[in-house]
Amino acid sequence: MAYRGVQTSKVSPAYLHGNSTSHTFAFSAVAELLDNAYDPDVNASEIWIDKRSINNTICLTFVDNGYGMDPNKLHKMLSFGYCEKEAVGSHQPIGHYGNGFKSGSMKLGNDALVFTRQANYMSVGMLSQTYLKNIKAETVLVPIVSWSLPDKMRSNTGDVKSNLQSILQHSILKTEKDLLNELDSMEKLKTGTKIIIYNLARIGNGNLELDFDSDPLDIRNPDTHVKDYSTINRIQAESKPRYKVSLRDYCSILYLKPKMKIVLRGKKVKTKLIQKSLSQTEIDTYRPTWAERPIPIRFGFTSSKNSDDYGIMMYHKNRLIRAYEKIGYQKQPNELGIGVVGVVDSYFLTPIHNKQDFQRDDKYSAFMTNAAQKLNDYWNEKRGGNEKTAPQNQQTVPDWTWAQCDNCLRWRRLTTGMTSEDLPDKWFCHMNADAQFNRCEIPEEPEDEEEALSGATYKKTFKKQQQERKIKIKFMAAEQNRTREMLLAAKEKELARKEQEMRKKTAVGEVSSTAGSSSVNPNSMTPVQIRRMKKDLDKLMKEKQNKEKEISELKRQKTMSERICREYQKKARHLNLDNLISSVNKQIEEDTRDVTSTSGTIQIKTEEGDIVDIIPVEEPSTSGTNNCNKVVDLTVDSDEEDGPSAPKISRREDIKPDISKIKIEPKQEPSKVVNNTQNQNTQTDKTEDTKTRQRLLNLQVNVHKLLKMIVPDEDLGKPENVEDIVTAMILHNS
Ligand SMILES: Nc1ncnc2c1ncn2[C@@H]1O[C@H](COP(=O)(O)OP(=O)(O)OP(=O)(O)O)[C@@H](O)[C@H]1O
Ligand SMILES: [Mg+2]
Ligand SMILES: [Zn+2]
Repeated sequence: MAYRGVQTSKVSPAYLHGNSTSHTFAFSAVAELLDNAYDPDVNASEIWIDKRSINNTICLTFVDNGYGMDPNKLHKMLSFGYCEKEAVGSHQPIGHYGNGFKSGSMKLGNDALVFTRQANYMSVGMLSQTYLKNIKAETVLVPIVSWSLPDKMRSNTGDVKSNLQSILQHSILKTEKDLLNELDSMEKLKTGTKIIIYNLARIGNGNLELDFDSDPLDIRNPDTHVKDYSTINRIQAESKPRYKVSLRDYCSILYLKPKMKIVLRGKKVKTKLIQKSLSQTEIDTYRPTWAERPIPIRFGFTSSKNSDDYGIMMYHKNRLIRAYEKIGYQKQPNELGIGVVGVVDSYFLTPIHNKQDFQRDDKYSAFMTNAAQKLNDYWNEKRGGNEKTAPQNQQTVPDWTWAQCDNCLRWRRLTTGMTSEDLPDKWFCHMNADAQFNRCEIPEEPEDEEEALSGATYKKTFKKQQQERKIKIKFMAAEQNRTREMLLAAKEKELARKEQEMRKKTAVGEVSSTAGSSSVNPNSMTPVQIRRMKKDLDKLMKEKQNKEKEISELKRQKTMSERICREYQKKARHLNLDNLISSVNKQIEEDTRDVTSTSGTIQIKTEEGDIVDIIPVEEPSTSGTNNCNKVVDLTVDSDEEDGPSAPKISRREDIKPDISKIKIEPKQEPSKVVNNTQNQNTQTDKTEDTKTRQRLLNLQVNVHKLLKMIVPDEDLGKPENVEDIVTAMILHNS
């Protein structure tokens, strides 16, 4: 009530056709109707598929002995997306989407009538594209009429008359009696459903899509539409896979464990317990982490006469989804894997809408990869990886023959060596020679899959050998690698040793080449080495020349210094210190200028007058006079000099002055000059003497400094030692 006024979704009549196109294969549409009868909510034990002609119209009919439907359930069947199926015991429903009947029936024909019987009701419903087209319906309408049982009274729910009229006016059954006759024909079933599909699908040339004529006991599908691309690498067999052409064949493999008898055009379909009709059967297990228990995959060689009937059979909850899918070796363009059939109930995968394939998700990929490996393992084990063991050489007799009881539908293993061809059309438990399983009440023998829970039922010796070989190869490769590494290390060591030797030789060569003879054999040297050596040699030669120059210069300087020294010594020998002092005093007295400053500087000049250094001269502060303003000429007479004159340079660090051309002058400081002649007159002789000595001492210190600078390599000793030189200088000056 809360939604009153809100519109209901409409389903366009065109949708019926569009929805049916999910079935690209007519037999997959048939399978939808078989599934509905098989599912636990219907649980039919038998279904009859027939071709009928009703009022000159070819019809395809499906009659099952299942539970049937009440009018309400029938309404849901004719609607979209309603599915209330639940598992009953181990019987899992195949139906899931609430769409199979609609898509399947509308694939097979334009119109369908559904008759169903239950204990208290019998009903008829119509899903008809013709009707909807005729009345120009905007949405899908499904007329339904019901009768109560046993009195067969028409129920009065809804507009029954209108519903009935719609069916009679637009279907192939024109009277209510016709409808009731159809329902009456099902009376012996007590419960069940009959589906009549008419205006059957036709192909381009106007012929019916399904071929009812080639085989009166079969329905054939001449145009399979679907190409089997899984065998694209192989030479295509002339014939299409039989299950795609013959409905009988398709029905025989449609259920992994067939529980429902299928009677096609009056003849029972010999269902195959495919996983139990193989030869050299082995069970391997797929063990994904998410699975509670291992998933068995049964491998064996096909006993089918059809050379194309091999590959993996993938069921989903007992219903075939992919048949004879080629995997592993079977996809290679050779003969490996031919004849091997794998059977698995891949309940863990998700079928797509038409139930002809699985969703290609991660689980699918993982499983397919694993199954392919297992199929290869099986082939390798049974055929030793040998392609040449052609499939025709294989044992094609099934390991066991199984028979299904026509009464209880249980499967019994035959121990008498009978083949399925030997079996009569109707077989019952009491015909079984095995007393353990010769009554319908006895349950089936347990599945042998249990034994595969701990692993494959066969020893994969080939695989083991292969693995061992692989390990061996790996081990050998590792060994080889180790040996190679060791060799390499030894070579490296040898190389290093040689290199060291070479270095030594080169060093010796360099030394001997400097000495004038080379012990290095130039033939054993590379051009680069030779070039480098030459370069080094040039450098060394240059260095040698420079050093020689320096040495000769130093020698020259030394000789000169020695000569000067000798000269001074010679002059000093004739000197009397008393005379010298009095002479100095005399000069001081004669000097009319004086300085108040107690400190002065001495400028060192070359003959040309360039100042090369300035030396500060410090005197005792007690002294009132100094002689710093007195020019002290240290120049040695140029005529006494016989060496080369020193170059004119002004940078202090480069100075190598010619001592003979140096003059020492106290710096003139005219601003500080005062006249102190009067002061000097008052000094006593004794003080004058001490002062003079002091001055002399200072002079010695300064001259010592100066000489040290001029001839740094000369050992001049203490400042007192230069007294002779200073005396000589003074004398020279005076
Ligand atoms: N033969 C039948 N006997 C009784 N009930 C049937 C029969 N066929 C269909 N039904 C009912 O009609 C419903 C719709 O069937 P339909 O095939 O369209 O969907 P589904 O089987 O539920 O799901 P799916 O789309 O997967 O087949 C079923 O759920 C079932 O209840
Ligand atoms: Mg269904
Ligand atoms: Zn039985």
